[in-house]
Amino acid sequence: MSPANTSSHLYEIDSGQKPNNMSTEIIVEQLKVLDVGSSSSPTAKRRSFSHHRRKSSASSTHFGLSSSPHHSFMPSSRPIAQDNQFLFPPPGGVNSIECEAENTAHPAKSVASARHHRHTSIDRASHIKTLPDSNTRSYTNYYDVNRNKYVLVTGGAGYIGSHTVLELLSCNYEIVIIDNLCNSNLEALRRVEKLAGRSINFHKCDITSEQEIDAVFEKYTFWAVIHFAALKAVGESTRLPIKYYHNNLTGSLNLLRVMEKHGVKNMVFSSSATVYGEPETTPVRESARLGPVTNPYGKTKLFIEEVLRDQCEADSDWNVCLLRYFNPVGAHISGLIGEHPQGVPNNLLPYVNKVIQGHLPYLQVFGSDYDTIDGTGVRDYIHVCDLATGHVAALKKLEKKPRCVAYNLGTGVGYSVLQIIKSMERVTGAHIPYKIADRRPGDVATCTADATLANRELEWYPTRTMDDMCEDMWRWTRRNPNGYDSPMLESDEESDEAQK
Ligand SMILES: NC(=O)c1ccc[n+]([C@@H]2O[C@H](COP(=O)([O-])OP(=O)(O)OC[C@H]3O[C@@H](n4cnc5c(N)ncnc54)[C@H](O)[C@@H]3O)[C@@H](O)[C@H]2O)c1
Repeated sequence: MSPANTSSHLYEIDSGQKPNNMSTEIIVEQLKVLDVGSSSSPTAKRRSFSHHRRKSSASSTHFGLSSSPHHSFMPSSRPIAQDNQFLFPPPGGVNSIECEAENTAHPAKSVASARHHRHTSIDRASHIKTLPDSNTRSYTNYYDVNRNKYVLVTGGAGYIGSHTVLELLSCNYEIVIIDNLCNSNLEALRRVEKLAGRSINFHKCDITSEQEIDAVFEKYTFWAVIHFAALKAVGESTRLPIKYYHNNLTGSLNLLRVMEKHGVKNMVFSSSATVYGEPETTPVRESARLGPVTNPYGKTKLFIEEVLRDQCEADSDWNVCLLRYFNPVGAHISGLIGEHPQGVPNNLLPYVNKVIQGHLPYLQVFGSDYDTIDGTGVRDYIHVCDLATGHVAALKKLEKKPRCVAYNLGTGVGYSVLQIIKSMERVTGAHIPYKIADRRPGDVATCTADATLANRELEWYPTRTMDDMCEDMWRWTRRNPNGYDSPMLESDEESDEAQK
């Protein structure tokens, strides 16, 4: 468990007044940015805000912060080295503008093609004012349309939540996070603030308490909720089913009751490919049979999906995007935020990292006689930053009032366990010892996503490859050998020194 540090400098609005009722000037006045001096007028705050960003860039190029005002808002995409600086494209500039023409392409092709575009978008970013106003996403649209749109993010301090919050901030949404910090650390949000150059409204709140959620809804007028908060360890859920059903189901029902009470009827829900059970065909489509699911964790996802479907059926004002994630991996390219698993990791890549760090002796590969490229299981891995852009795309979809829709978020490209080991060895230069073990009951040979629905309807495309996922994951691990529990190491040399 991470320490539940509540003495945060993260910004909290104390007034009982709802921020949406305030004038823009007052909201600007209330923005608190880390390390900014105490200028009092709104204009002065605004000036010091951009000054802060410039200041951060100058002192923090190793975080990938830009010195260019055009780029400083978008730290979540792969930077391009230019005159020893790292530059980032503007919000929406990468994963949206250049991808709009590609929405009928095959996922694998889209990945390659979008990556190509990603590396050209910097030039376009400098001409951002002349870009056509897309009806979906552009720098100016994000700024104008999302301004003052309050989005509640439950579980926003966690792995996927923190990366998504960064993306949302860069798209100018107003973010309020609730989290009980049972599997996360406030340091993640401090670093998100640093990367975004914006403050975050954080409330320590347990969703199993309806009163606590209600108190937060009394403070803000939310436009939508992104619901990440859940316990997620499959193995633990089979040992402690009541804990999982209470946390995930009671928590979600409380949240929905409070949303209903306050008339907030837009939700993006973190679901999982687990809801497909053992899929009959792969790549699996959203229309595939759901279940049977054999573990309590997966069942909580399936049950909540059912509840949300019923609610949308009963009340046509409700709109929900069910996002079924495949295997999220990687970390933000800055190395500042990433996954900090407690104890022995459940997922392959964090486990491999622990082996490379010498914390675990070897990796167990379950099954080497599957009908796959090398006999080991093949899965669809998706970079957590691509997942984050998927949430922004889902929020945009809610504006079109889709009722209840499910989308797979995966790349459509499968990698075997041995391929991942090789990729990690290539990236890290380390030898990764592994032993072949028996197949695990319930494991299938191959499970990949058919993400064409999300490509088409959300105009969303993952852009990062397996090597990106491994590189970013390794950078995070190397610079943060103890996750968020100790300060980030400043350089690779320092990391090497710490490793000795
Ligand atoms: N990581 C994956 O492999 C994966 C795959 C599919 C789906 N998901 C789902 O995505 C969501 C986010 O996953 P993650 O990997 O970021 O996990 P995470 O554990 O890092 O994040 C979950 C966050 O929810 C918080 N939380 C849990 N119970 C809470 C409660 N009762 N009240 C308030 N906050 C609470 C935790 O403190 C944590 O910050 C979860 O719903 C998970 O089930 C994750």
